[in-house]
Amino acid sequence: MGKGSAGLLAMGAVLMVAGCKSAPPLTPEEAVGQHMYAVRCAHCHEENDLALKPPPPSLHNIAEQKMLPNGGPATDAAIARVVVEGKNKMPSFAGRFTDAQMAGLIAYLRTSMPAEKK
Ligand code: HEC
Repeated sequence: MGKGSAGLLAMGAVLMVAGCKSAPPLTPEEAVGQHMYAVRCAHCHEENDLALKPPPPSLHNIAEQKMLPNGGPATDAAIARVVVEGKNKMPSFAGRFTDAQMAGLIAYLRTSMPAEKK
């Protein structure tokens, strides 16, 4: 290692810390979805408060994975259909969401899904 390596290491440490900074703020649409998720979905999908077996799958990263946890492409339409129709132990939310709320929900599922601040 040459003379400048300590400086490079220090710079790397700074960059790593900077990389952990919180995600960019949500758009208003995503914030609507964040709230819907917190109210309607998180108690099952995060906390599994009904102790379902198998537990409801994590919805984090479905955008990157491109597939729904239990198969099929993770398109907006497919996600909306699961929410409206339900699936096995997941209840149907037919009529519970306005179009804007549904759009926000899907937009939020495609973010890093930061938890709603209380
Ligand atoms: C009562 C608990 C419960 C609630 C509330 C609930 N879910 Fe689910 N969810 C489940 C279970 C259980 C599954 C697994 C269904 C299966 O494939 O058998 C699931 C699966 C899913 C899937 C993946 C489907 C697949 O094919 O892999 C999505 C997407 C989903 N839920 C979205 C939501 C959203 C969005 C909400 C809030 C509007 C929500 N869920 C609320 C229990 C719940």
